Amino acid sequence: MLIDPEFWRARRVLVTGHTGFKGAWLSLWLQSLGAHVVGLAPGAPTRPSLFALARVGEHMTQHDADVRDAQAVLEAVRDARPEVVFHMAAQPMVRRSLREPALTYEVNVMGTVNVLEALRALDGAVRAILVVTSDKCYENDGTPRAGFREGEPLGGGDPYSSSKACAELVAAAYRRSFFEGDGQPGLATARAGNVIGGGDWGQDRLLADAARAVETDTLLRLRDPTAVRPWQHVLNALSGYLLLAQSLGERPDLARAWNFGPPAGEAGTVAWVVERLAALWEGALRVESEQLGAPAEAAYLALDSSAAERELGWRAPWDLARSLELLVTWHRDHMAGEDMRRVSLAQLDAFAGAVGNRAGSPTTDA
Ligand SMILES: NC(=O)c1ccc[n+]([C@@H]2O[C@H](COP(=O)([O-])OP(=O)(O)OC[C@H]3O[C@@H](n4cnc5c(N)ncnc54)[C@H](O)[C@@H]3O)[C@@H](O)[C@H]2O)c1
Repeated sequence: MLIDPEFWRARRVLVTGHTGFKGAWLSLWLQSLGAHVVGLAPGAPTRPSLFALARVGEHMTQHDADVRDAQAVLEAVRDARPEVVFHMAAQPMVRRSLREPALTYEVNVMGTVNVLEALRALDGAVRAILVVTSDKCYENDGTPRAGFREGEPLGGGDPYSSSKACAELVAAAYRRSFFEGDGQPGLATARAGNVIGGGDWGQDRLLADAARAVETDTLLRLRDPTAVRPWQHVLNALSGYLLLAQSLGERPDLARAWNFGPPAGEAGTVAWVVERLAALWEGALRVESEQLGAPAEAAYLALDSSAAERELGWRAPWDLARSLELLVTWHRDHMAGEDMRRVSLAQLDAFAGAVGNRAGSPTTDA
């Protein structure tokens, strides 16, 4: 299955968390497909940000709303009258969730409730709702094992992971209680691994920390060099979200949970990724390895995405090595003062070519 430009052209799409790393890439992609994109989030969570550099906000309607504020969410959703919804707004950091667990649950769990409540109150127009959770939503004791499948138990040993498992349960309950039957939107959840790519300046993310270290000429400090993460390029994951969302309205069988992770062999250790990055940065990345306290995140995580591959025809065209190259290229262009909207659209164009989606490839005019 390919991303269908006809489906997305002039489609009214609500993206919560549109100012964040994934939200900005998704909004840019939707803009390039000709969708009417409406965003719901406070300003960008980092400075600099992909959102600002690629001037994403200039090409969409925005609601400066907090998902914890049910009334503000309701008003934004009424104004947007979306046909498709991507709910991405979240407190997405494990370490911050250990410092601010209550806030993490408020944003990630009650925020999800507030968005679904507002959509429930909207008559008719919504076709598809995608709630973005995380690969961390599974019960995970850290033992090396084959990838998690969608039917396996939910869990989470830290507030962030557990809040994403809670968001899964909220979505499942809303699906069964309110969003089943004729005329109801399809509601699915998406669980992706750590995504990487140009323009991420989030705290406590290895690839973002590495790019920041190079751009500010500081040391990259490694938390746990042996940890294994299912890294993948952000566009790999987002292409799965787009494929799923464009079919959800027509196919009730797709209204369930989905994994979008890299193939098993792609789950590299932190040490391996940093070695590759150091080579790509040609000496500009300086690394210091130390254990900064006990690792709070599960040490091993892999996803089984065979359902998405089989039923949605999803595939991740950019492997880890290519993804790291593109990340470094993006940040080099940023450091060289390039127009980052143009650079980002060119990477989207290259992605469209890699999946054979040329017909839907974005133009640099978007
Ligand atoms: N980046 C990853 O590797 C990764 C991995 C798995 C899951 N996810 C999930 O993907 C989604 C997007 O993550 P991201 O990496 O883009 O994070 P991000 O921090 O870059 O962006 C988060 C977005 O949510 C918004 N937000 C935060 N608190 C809010 C609130 N109270 N009300 C409204 N908006 C609020 C921010 O303004 C921002 O737009 C999140 O749900 C996250 O949990 C991310």
